[in-house]
Amino acid sequence: MLTDKRILLIIAGGIAAFKSLDLIRRLRERGALVTPVLTRSAEEFVTPLSVSSLAGEKVYRDLFDLTDEAEMGHIQLSRSADLIVVAPATADLMAKMANGLANDLASTLLLATDTPVLIAPAMNVRMWEHPATQRNLTTLQGDGIGVVGPNEGDMACGEYGPGRMSEPLEIVSEIESAMRVGALSGQRVLVTSGPTHEPIDPVRYIANRSSGAQGSAIAEALVEQGAEVIFVTGPADAARPNGVHLVEVETAQEMMQAVQGTLPVDAAVFSAAVADWRVASASESKIKKTKDGLPVLSFAENPDILATVSQMKSGRPKLVIGFAAETDDVIENATSKRLRKGCDWIVANDVSPETGIMGGSENAVTLISDDGAESWPRMGKAEVACQLAERIAKALQ
Ligand code: C5P
Repeated sequence: MLTDKRILLIIAGGIAAFKSLDLIRRLRERGALVTPVLTRSAEEFVTPLSVSSLAGEKVYRDLFDLTDEAEMGHIQLSRSADLIVVAPATADLMAKMANGLANDLASTLLLATDTPVLIAPAMNVRMWEHPATQRNLTTLQGDGIGVVGPNEGDMACGEYGPGRMSEPLEIVSEIESAMRVGALSGQRVLVTSGPTHEPIDPVRYIANRSSGAQGSAIAEALVEQGAEVIFVTGPADAARPNGVHLVEVETAQEMMQAVQGTLPVDAAVFSAAVADWRVASASESKIKKTKDGLPVLSFAENPDILATVSQMKSGRPKLVIGFAAETDDVIENATSKRLRKGCDWIVANDVSPETGIMGGSENAVTLISDDGAESWPRMGKAEVACQLAERIAKALQ
């Protein structure tokens, strides 16, 4: 239920705007209070009268409407809701949001707000797949904006592919999970994820096989529990989680810097597979094959991010969690790693190739804490993430 939850619904100008009428109905059935905002072009698709009749509230349309300003200024309007939903979010409005433009009521509200925002994109498939839209999407996700859809299917323009706005009930379910006041609401949690790439020269690098799947799943589970999540990731294959503040890095040194920039946090989960060493002096230009013999690489040690944060004298997160990917004597090695690094918990797993864990969808972990070692049964990475997020919520209570 969404009883008495205030939703500011921005309807932008796309054919999918007709589905927003049903969305309003569905939200009101669940007890939500919907304040609608229409862009100029949205009025070509739905009428202000039908929107306000369904919402049972006044429709806001114009930035310079003095009657509106007298009733509720646009800054106040942008902050009076529990959640702002943009449905449909057109390519144009996404571009404005990604670039911080504020030249009409909808874009001004979105720039002025400090309320969480969820967008339901809808557009022609080519527009959706265009690099500019995809760039804007990445920017918006990095800004912590939630995204639902688009779905794949037949489009009003006769083409087929991703671009259809999610169905009203799918949007409602995203709204319900965005509104969930989880056990971790009000807590700031840092998650590192993915591998790091350590350059040898401008075209070559040293990497590892981490996919980032477990880190992404953990970040998503923490968001589900209501945490504000800062997700610092190396160049991972896994899809980036929804609803996080995204920081993309390449090397261990960049990851260290990014982590320091996010502090203070309440808890930190270091699931990244950080390279222990980097090439001491990476070449500025591509190393050439010569007859004089093979190149020799010398290494320098990377900063140990987990140990640095665990051993902070002041401002240390209340809970610091490290990972131990081992191939032999998993529990023994992970137990001594916990003490050596100074973290509170270690999530240990066996990454021997025969386990299929590295890059796979399942994980079998042992949680090592002051209370000893607790082995969990093999399960999906999303399930491991949910259980870990629940443990974190309990520990931070
Ligand atoms: O020492 P090892 O790499 O096995 O430790 C693994 C744990 O330490 C992981 O939690 C990883 O994210 C973290 N780590 C780190 N910085 C490093 C190396 C590892 O944060 N340079």
